Amino acid sequence: MIALGSDHAGFHLKEEIKRHLEKRGIEYKDFGSYSDARANYAEYAEKVANAVVSGECERGILVCGTGIGISIAANKVNGIRAVACSDCYSAIMSRRHNDTNVLALGGRVVGMGLATTIVDAWLNEEFEGGRHKERIDYIKDIEKRNTN
Ligand code: RB5
Repeated sequence: MIALGSDHAGFHLKEEIKRHLEKRGIEYKDFGSYSDARANYAEYAEKVANAVVSGECERGILVCGTGIGISIAANKVNGIRAVACSDCYSAIMSRRHNDTNVLALGGRVVGMGLATTIVDAWLNEEFEGGRHKERIDYIKDIEKRNTN
């Protein structure tokens, strides 16, 4: 199950990603927003991030205008490793080396075709583990040291 979220600037791309996931037979849960009315990206980032860390959803995809604000907000939730990216190489490497569990896209940055190609590349890739796991473990330690 993939958690989806967006603000107003990402709404139309989120809807396109839903259609794309349906075609691929991948289940998703849409946490909003549900229209292109002005919305705060941080609210939807938090909903999707919580769904991922709780285990309700395996991974999340977020969309705002740039992918930046919504990824920053998602990364505030312990256990989230969100990547804002607009190219397939970064999406793939973020899975292999960084074990990202949230992909953030910019609805004003990437076109529908590139966005769904990035989604496919990211969904299909696995974490390599090994030496990369040590670095992820260090990131988890940083989270612990900075949790009140
Ligand atoms: C909304 O105008 C825009 O600021 C937001 O979608 C996002 O791009 C922020 O990072």
